[in-house]
Amino acid sequence: MIVTIDGPAGAGKSSIARLAATRLGFAFLDTGAMYRCVTHAALQQTRSQDAADPWSDPERLLQIAEGCQIDFDDGRVLLNGEDVSDAIRTPEVTRHIRFAADHPQVRTRLNVQQRRIAAGQDIVTEGRDQGTEVFPDAECKIFLTASPEVRAQRRQQQLAASGKQVQLEEVLADQNRRDLEDRLREVGRLRPAEDAVVVNTDGLQPDEVLEKVLQIVRQTA
Ligand code: C5P
Repeated sequence: MIVTIDGPAGAGKSSIARLAATRLGFAFLDTGAMYRCVTHAALQQTRSQDAADPWSDPERLLQIAEGCQIDFDDGRVLLNGEDVSDAIRTPEVTRHIRFAADHPQVRTRLNVQQRRIAAGQDIVTEGRDQGTEVFPDAECKIFLTASPEVRAQRRQQQLAASGKQVQLEEVLADQNRRDLEDRLREVGRLRPAEDAVVVNTDGLQPDEVLEKVLQIVRQTA
C-alpha cells in the first residue's frame, strides 16, 4: 500500500509522516531530502574553482544529480555513502533548492528513484508531488496543510527550541517565498491530488493530526 502525504513547508508533514509510518509498520520516504541531496552536491561543486556554475547551467546540474547515489538507512540520509542528514538541512541548501526542484529532468530522475524505493513494500511517502505526479495510483492520498500564520509560528517555535531566535515576520516572509516557488513550479507543483483528503491542522496538536491521518489510512485500507 502506498500512502502519499503532500503539503506546503511547515505543515508538519515530515514528523507526522514518519510517525504514521512507524505506527503502521510501513517504510518511510522523505522526498524533500532527495532534492536537498542534489542541492548539497551542487553547492559542494560551486566551492571547487574550475567547475561550471550549476545554478546557471541546467546541464551541469543534471550531471550532478546523475552522480548522486541517495540512500536511506535507519532514518539517516546517505549521499554517495556519506551521512549528510544534517548537512542537507542548512539554510544555504534551502535557499538554493529551487534550482533542483524547478529542473524537469532532475525531477524525472528523482521520481524514478522514488518509485524504485517504493516498489514492493508498504510505504508512507512525503513531499509536494507524491499524490499527483509520482504515485497517481496510490491507495491513500493525504494533503496536510495549515494557515501561513500557524505554520510560521510552529517553525519559529522549532527554531527557538534549537536556540535560534527569529522574528515571526522573517519566518513568514521566507515561508511565503517557498510557498510561491512550490506552487508556481511548472512541473511537480504543489497542489492536492483530486482524490486527496485535505487535512487542515490549524488548532490541532501533533497527536491529534497523527490520529486523523491513521484514521484516513485505515478507512482506505
Ligand atoms: O520537505 P522539504 O522542505 O525538505 O523539501 C525541500 C524542498 O524540496 C521543498 O521546498 C520543495 O521545493 C522541494 N520538493 C519538491 N518535491 C518534493 C519534495 C520536495 O519539489 N516531492
